[in-house]
Amino acid sequence: MDAYELDTPCLLLDLGAVEHNSATMMASLAGSGVALRPHFKTPKCPQVARMQLDAGAIGITVAKLGEAEVLADAGLGPILMANQVVGPIKIARLMALLARGVDITIAVESEFNVRELSEGARLSGQRPAAVIEVDAGMSRCGTSTPAETVALARMLVDAGIDYRGIMGYEGHMYAQPDEEPRRQLIEAALGAVNRHAEALAEAGLPPRIVSTSGSASTGIASRTAGITELQAGTYIFHDSHHEGFTPGIYQYALTLLTTVVTVRDRYAVCDAGMKSLSSDHGPSFSRDGSFKAARLSEEHAHLTGPGIAALHPGQKVELVPSHGDTTLNLHDVYHVVRKGQVVDEWPILGARRFK
Ligand SMILES: Cc1ncc(COP(=O)(O)O)c(C=O)c1O
Repeated sequence: MDAYELDTPCLLLDLGAVEHNSATMMASLAGSGVALRPHFKTPKCPQVARMQLDAGAIGITVAKLGEAEVLADAGLGPILMANQVVGPIKIARLMALLARGVDITIAVESEFNVRELSEGARLSGQRPAAVIEVDAGMSRCGTSTPAETVALARMLVDAGIDYRGIMGYEGHMYAQPDEEPRRQLIEAALGAVNRHAEALAEAGLPPRIVSTSGSASTGIASRTAGITELQAGTYIFHDSHHEGFTPGIYQYALTLLTTVVTVRDRYAVCDAGMKSLSSDHGPSFSRDGSFKAARLSEEHAHLTGPGIAALHPGQKVELVPSHGDTTLNLHDVYHVVRKGQVVDEWPILGARRFK
C-alpha cells in the first residue's frame, strides 16, 4: 500500500532513514572506545530499540520507569534510567523490575534518593544498581561538587547498593545557537563530569560508567577521554530543530502525513493540529521547505509559504516535525514505510509513559 493512501493525520516512519541514522551514528563512534546506549525517549518503540541494539548499542537509556517497563516486557536492555526514581510507589515498581531479573541502573542525586533506594532494597530483598547524576551545567538535577559525588558514592556502597558510576547531560548546549561557543560549553560540561570521575577514582571509587551527551554532542564526547558511553536519542529519527545543530548528517525519518482541507489566497489549512503535532520547537515545514505550519489550533494547521499555491483540497502532504519526540508522544503507532510503501505498523508502546 502506498503511504499516501493512509488516513490522516498519521505518523510515517521511513525505515531507510532510520537505518541511515543508526549506521551514521555507529560509524561516527567506531574506534573511539566510547559506547552508545541510545535514549528511548525518542523512538519509544521496542522494534526501533532492537534495531539500535542490533547495530551495536550496549543497552538502552530511559527517562521514565514506564519506558523501562516497556523495554523489560520486550526483553530489551540493559537499561540505564538517566533520571531519579522518587517516592515509594515508584521504588516498589523498580524493585518489581529487579525481581523480574531486569538489568536496570538508576540515577541518584541526593541522600534522599539513596535512603529511599536502600529502604526499597530492605523491604524487597533486591539489590538495586545506581549511578550518581552530576550537574554538567544544565542546572536541572545532579550533584554540584565532586566532594558531594564522592560522599554519595560512599553512601551507596555502605548501603549495599551496586554503585556503577556517574552520568551527566549537557542539554544546555541547545540554548547556544552558535557553533564555537557551543563547542566550548560542551567541552566545559564534559570537563566538569570528568572532575567528578577523577575525584571518585582518587577516593578509591572509580566509576565504571561515565555516561553523557545528546545527539548534538556525541562527536565531542566520543573524543573526550574518560567518557565511557553516550545517551543520544534524537539522532535516530532526527527533526528540524536538531538539523540546526547537526546539519547535513542525519535524515528525517519521522513525518506527519496530513490532508489539505482548504486552500485560500494567502494560506491553506490541513487536518493536523496541536493534538497530532507539537510546536514547542517552532513550526514544522513541508519536506521541500516550501510551506510551514505557521499556526496550530486543536485540529487544524494554517499552512503558509510559496508552496501553498500548488496545494488542493484532499491532497496529502508530509510535515517534518520541528520536535519529533513531543509529536510522536501524541500518537499510538508508526506506519513503517520503505520507498513510499507501508511495510509494517509498530505500536509506540512508550508514548505517554510519563510515570
Ligand atoms: C538525560 C538525557 N540524556 C540524553 C538525552 C538525549 O538528547 P538528544 O535528544 O539530544 O539526543 C536527553 C534529552 O532530553 C536527556 O534528558
